[in-house]
Amino acid sequence: MFLGFKAERFLSLALLLHIVCTSPGICLEDSTMGNCLNSSCSSLSISKENSEPLPIETIFNLSSAIPTWPPGKGFANGSIDLGGILVYQVSSFNKTWATHEGGPDNLGATFYEPSSIPKGYFMLGSYSQPNNKLLFGWVLTAKDVTNNHSRPALKMPVDYTLVWSSESLNINQDGHGYIWLPTPPDGYNPVGHVVTSSPEKPPLDKIRCVRSDFTNSAEVDSWIWGQGDVVNYNGLNIYSSRPSQRGTQSLGVPTGTFIAQSQNNGTSTMISACLKNVKASLSAMPTLSQIRALVQAYSPLVYFHPDEPYLPSSVGWFFQNGALLYIKGNESNPTPIELKGSNLPQGGSNDCAFWLDLPRNQQAKERVQKGELQDAEAYLHIKPVLGGTFTDIVVWLFYPFNGAARAKIKFLTVSLGKIGEHVGDWEHVTLRVSNFDGALKSVYFSQHNGGVWVDAPGLEFQNGSKPVAYASLHGHAMFSSAGLVVQGNNGVGLRNDCEKSNMVMDTGTRSIVFAAEFLPSSMVVEPPWLNYARKWGPNISYNTDDELKKVEKFLLGKLKSAFKKFVNGLPKEVFGEEGPTGPKMKDSWNGEENS
Ligand SMILES: *[C@@H]1O[C@H](CO)[C@@H](O)[C@H](O)[C@H]1NC(C)=O
Ligand SMILES: *[C@@H]1O[C@H](CO)[C@@H](O)[C@H](O)[C@H]1NC(C)=O
Ligand SMILES: *[C@@H]1O[C@H](CO)[C@@H](O)[C@H](O)[C@H]1NC(C)=O
Ligand SMILES: *[C@@H]1O[C@H](CO)[C@@H](O)[C@H](O)[C@H]1NC(C)=O
Ligand SMILES: *[C@@H]1O[C@H](CO)[C@@H](O)[C@H](O)[C@H]1NC(C)=O
Ligand SMILES: *[C@@H]1O[C@H](CO)[C@@H](O)[C@H](O)[C@H]1NC(C)=O
Ligand SMILES: *[C@@H]1O[C@H](CO)[C@@H](O)[C@H](O)[C@H]1NC(C)=O
Ligand SMILES: *[C@@H]1O[C@H](CO)[C@@H](O)[C@H](O)[C@H]1NC(C)=O
Ligand SMILES: *[C@@H]1O[C@H](CO)[C@@H](O)[C@H](O)[C@H]1NC(C)=O
Repeated sequence: MFLGFKAERFLSLALLLHIVCTSPGICLEDSTMGNCLNSSCSSLSISKENSEPLPIETIFNLSSAIPTWPPGKGFANGSIDLGGILVYQVSSFNKTWATHEGGPDNLGATFYEPSSIPKGYFMLGSYSQPNNKLLFGWVLTAKDVTNNHSRPALKMPVDYTLVWSSESLNINQDGHGYIWLPTPPDGYNPVGHVVTSSPEKPPLDKIRCVRSDFTNSAEVDSWIWGQGDVVNYNGLNIYSSRPSQRGTQSLGVPTGTFIAQSQNNGTSTMISACLKNVKASLSAMPTLSQIRALVQAYSPLVYFHPDEPYLPSSVGWFFQNGALLYIKGNESNPTPIELKGSNLPQGGSNDCAFWLDLPRNQQAKERVQKGELQDAEAYLHIKPVLGGTFTDIVVWLFYPFNGAARAKIKFLTVSLGKIGEHVGDWEHVTLRVSNFDGALKSVYFSQHNGGVWVDAPGLEFQNGSKPVAYASLHGHAMFSSAGLVVQGNNGVGLRNDCEKSNMVMDTGTRSIVFAAEFLPSSMVVEPPWLNYARKWGPNISYNTDDELKKVEKFLLGKLKSAFKKFVNGLPKEVFGEEGPTGPKMKDSWNGEENS
């Protein structure tokens, strides 16, 4: 990670990446316009005359079947007890309605309801997905096990309201679609919609509403279909739903259903609840041996750029090869660091009283800067998310050095002098695994101070079901596909170059579970260096203006002003670079990834 960008900046980048960078080799030049460097981008505006089958007509499968997990307790058992409600994940569907235009890539969206619901379980809502992706969703179905006859956990709705229908619309669609909101009995919430292909109200026993103490608040997530900017589909927008709170302690459980927002019918006609793991039970979390099996199946393969001089190493290698601990006020007497960091100060806060640096001897320094790929280790943090129904496996890599930032200025590539360089670089990718069946659902790619989630169908897989991650040249930001991503505006921005080379790390080969707070502390021993709260590199003392002037010298007229504009647009944090703090000090440690 090299630059301290603001979250919003990356949110807009994330959106673009999510929507635009869907195939390998496709790259953005301009984050406001999303135009492309590579002519293969033209395939993004797939025309409707195209008679090829839609992506959604194919079911996504992990490259190799989900392995049989070692025996455990509640993990991959099919259903999970939320403390009175048993939930079961269904991913086989019956299609109810589809439109072939609007939504992402203007390919439309399809609506489904769960088929083959197990005996005793009930539908909570329909599923919907844009047509530009392989079919890969799921919805939860639920069974009441409270044995509470006066106030059962699940109840039929008392009526339905029609939120929206496609009847009056002249769009490319299969018949007509009708989206219904269940009217709940007092004290109950609907967590999903029913979609029908005829104007008759669905039967009341079609769906169940959930007693409100078994629900948490939900919010819209990614856009599935609707009016967008172009067409007005009677004011409708469809989004996937997710719990509003998503930390490791949060109890909200996603239902897999969607939220229909109709401007015509106001905000009262909205789904605003998901399920809740009321007893905060972690019974569905994997055991240590199941975690090892998950890592064996899904460990990301990280590719480094062919020109990358600064590779990862193990933390132990960094310490053993001359890294030094500096103490403020005694800078002339830095101390070597023990293998596990046991002589590093523990706890406290990032108060600048201590920091780490490369060896002082120039030769040793240059050697350590380059890292040692053969010896590099992946450090795994295992945490429950989404009310204990998913496991996040955060895969951390350590690089002794982060190279200088590089900018793209129209057709030129320039190195930004020393800007962006720093000692000690922590980067990660996160695997999100379903605790219902152990399937890999999505992967998070950290990119500077932000990142993006990519759903399984959007990932590149190798060697079975191992997702591929690309570490960008110098900055080591993680991307799901090769190519160039430029972060900036008007053809000027920071370069992220990703490419395959023979430098690749299977992060499962030398991986260490270094933290799993949900397991007894005797089972996972945290290395002392994890609890070192200060910086992993020194403040680098360079004059930013001098560095920029060196670059500006080579630019003429328009380019110079475009570059100045880009530089002025960057947040201040980019320039006053300091060595970063370790994994445990990041906001994502106890929460969800920045999103
Ligand atoms: C665009 O990218 C594709 C896939 O990476 C590559 O095969 C092709 O040569 C590239 N085209 C240009 C014009 O760079
Ligand atoms: C995934 O499996 C289903 C059912 O076995 C099959 O119909 C589908 O074609 C498979 N998808 C791919 C991409 O191979
Ligand atoms: C496994 O699922 C069954 C229902 O399918 C349930 O009765 C049982 O309690 C579950 N086991 C655990 C350990 O959660
Ligand atoms: C799904 O479709 C099949 C075949 O048409 C039908 O037998 C089944 O009842 C349907 N399931 C639901 C939940 O409607
Ligand atoms: C049923 O649920 C209600 C609402 O939570 C509660 O007040 C009541 O005590 C429960 N009754 C039984 C028999 O558990
Ligand atoms: C919107 O809500 C009103 C009443 O709240 C209802 O009469 C109408 O059918 C709903 N649907 C549409 C598409 O207007
Ligand atoms: C500075 O560090 C050296 C070596 O660790 C130590 O001997 C000395 O006492 C320290 N001096 C001060 C002022 O802390
Ligand atoms: C690094 O620089 C910042 C800002 O100039 C300063 O607040 C901080 O104390 C410095 N840290 C160290 C470790 O010297
Ligand atoms: C993928 O598997 C093959 C065969 O088992 C192996 O030779 C190769 O090194 C693996 N690739 C990576 C990147 O681990």
